[in-house]
Amino acid sequence: MTETNSRRSFLQRSALGVAGLSVANLALVEDAVGSGIPAVPAVAPYAAKPLKPSTLSMNGISRRTMEEHYKLYVGYVNKANEILEALKTVDHSKANQTFSPLRALKVELSFAVGGIKNHEIYFDHLGGNGGVPTGTLLEQINRDFGSYEAWERDFRATGLAARGWVWLAYDLDRGALFNYLGDAQNTFPIWNAVPVAALDTYEHAYFIDYATDRKTYIDAFMKNLDWNAVEARFAAVPRKP
Ligand SMILES: [Fe+2]
Repeated sequence: MTETNSRRSFLQRSALGVAGLSVANLALVEDAVGSGIPAVPAVAPYAAKPLKPSTLSMNGISRRTMEEHYKLYVGYVNKANEILEALKTVDHSKANQTFSPLRALKVELSFAVGGIKNHEIYFDHLGGNGGVPTGTLLEQINRDFGSYEAWERDFRATGLAARGWVWLAYDLDRGALFNYLGDAQNTFPIWNAVPVAALDTYEHAYFIDYATDRKTYIDAFMKNLDWNAVEARFAAVPRKP
């Protein structure tokens, strides 16, 4: 029996028993044959978003840096998809907290997906003219930090203290903004906090342009920040009244 005929036969045999299930659920039921456990449903793979043209002609962060940086981002996308494929066939019976294929895949998936999400925020809000935010974002910053200047001082200093990222994020539970620190793509996110700005402090973000002078790179980042993009991200956050 061919694979297609086998699938059709199974669906026909199962039709009475699964009346009312959607076509997608039928596929899950079919995949469950043998194990009795529903299989991982098919989800779309990650896809790399293109760089905005304005990010390739900035004053202070070179085109070469951006092009090399984008290659790393595409690498995170490819590896995330590779890991998701591997997870479909990983042996769950060998799960172990010291080492197991399942553990390794899930740990590294968090790194790859973090790399995707962090860089999509970062690239999206570069290519602007710096300055200061306006509207509800400025109001929230003033409320939670005291002033824009106080926020920027903390954001810049956190950028010197971090080994990977600074995220300006809105904690949905506290109803407040905070500058969170990350040492890697997957550390240290806070549950239920939505990042609206992300400063990459990995050396790959600035070494071509500034060698080890991260402070001057942060100056360049601030001058090229597109506050419109940050404000748009903040406007989409379901905030507490
Ligand atoms: Fe990066």
